[in-house]
Amino acid sequence: MKKAYRAALLRFDDAGAPQFDQDGLLVTGADAQGRVRVLDAGSHAAVAPRHPDAEITHWPGRILAPGFVDMHIHFPQLDIIGAPADGLLPWLENYTFPEESRFADAAHAQAAASFFFDELLRQGVTTALTFCTSHPASVEAFFGEAQRRQLRMIGGKVLQDRHSPDGVRDQTEQSLIDTEALIRRWHGTDRLGYAITPRFAPTSTDAQLRGAGELAAKYADTWIHSHVAENKDEVQWARELFPRARSYLDVYTGFGLMRERAVYAHCIHFDDADRQLMHETRTAAAVSPTSNLFLGSGFFDFEGAQRTHMLHGLASDVGGGTSFSPFHTMLAAYYIGREGQTKPGLSLKPSRLWWLHTAGAAQALGLAGTLGNLQPGCEADFLVLNPVATPLLARKTARSESLEELLFALIVLGDDRLIERTVIGQQGAAAA
Ligand code: GUN
Ligand code: ZN
Repeated sequence: MKKAYRAALLRFDDAGAPQFDQDGLLVTGADAQGRVRVLDAGSHAAVAPRHPDAEITHWPGRILAPGFVDMHIHFPQLDIIGAPADGLLPWLENYTFPEESRFADAAHAQAAASFFFDELLRQGVTTALTFCTSHPASVEAFFGEAQRRQLRMIGGKVLQDRHSPDGVRDQTEQSLIDTEALIRRWHGTDRLGYAITPRFAPTSTDAQLRGAGELAAKYADTWIHSHVAENKDEVQWARELFPRARSYLDVYTGFGLMRERAVYAHCIHFDDADRQLMHETRTAAAVSPTSNLFLGSGFFDFEGAQRTHMLHGLASDVGGGTSFSPFHTMLAAYYIGREGQTKPGLSLKPSRLWWLHTAGAAQALGLAGTLGNLQPGCEADFLVLNPVATPLLARKTARSESLEELLFALIVLGDDRLIERTVIGQQGAAAA
């Protein structure tokens, strides 16, 4: 059934420039496969006459915007947000691995998955590339719950067969068998996608990394999801373990783990040869600024990424990251962009920050034109934002004289209170 929504409307063009209609109209409807997509979008004056049959819901004073895309998050790390540590490696050992060992229990994994999706949607995130744990039960819980809610989500079982404690360490051969079974079960089912997920090179044997690369070649439209060059001690460790690689990143190339739809979190301690390799292989970086600030990991080089045309987008990295909120992540990215800035002006324009967490993130995931935008053809997962959700937001947004000023006000002052509704197009289809 065709549905139309009238309010201010934020979209992005193919070049990433924002398009904003103060009085906009978004028309959605199911395609031949029953998937709800944007049929038309633009100013109410231009679009409404083309759809005399559409039933219009009017939200005066509200803003329609694409659902946010979180390029890197760990659903089992919900409960260790804010766990203090000297840095990444002690944080993994003291908090993360013990916490993740609980996900061998299917009931625990199920309850956490349910909370996780409630929270993502409450914060306006409609797609997330997600780490589960090494336990297949965690993956079943993740996909089962996402399927029940008809979401577009990507996730996978963590591979970690060495340098990991009992309770999370998996076994090489079985881990690859489990991964392939999960790919067959979930990849391409409804709106779900599988990510082959070696935790990071130091916790996988050569045999496991090789097997992961073979699966990535066999199932070429799956994602690959891992971490790289986050923390100086980690980089040093990877160099000791893989002395023949040119750099830490180069370890992954050697195992066939860089290609389109490969996503590496952090990518901080890189040189231009690494960035060039990312670009040439169409591999994407998931930039996780609240995590990098919290764990003291370092500062992602946005200028370097743009200079070398390296695909990148924004991510929370909860639980290293401190917030599910895309507004908090965008603001932290703005701060991070200040570090090492050589050009005068804003570190990152507000519309650029927003693009990096929506259409730009979708592009980095190889899903441009499918999600993260509200152009015709995109899946209709969108947000209704309330720019007067708090007294200060109301005061500040009323004074905005340009789109950039408005978006900056939302980024700086916004959080979950801005998200009045998260609309999952598919649920409309089920109801129709
Ligand atoms: N590197 C390896 N595992 C992890 C993890 O769980 N979180 C972060 N931030 N970095 C990692
Ligand atoms: Zn991470």
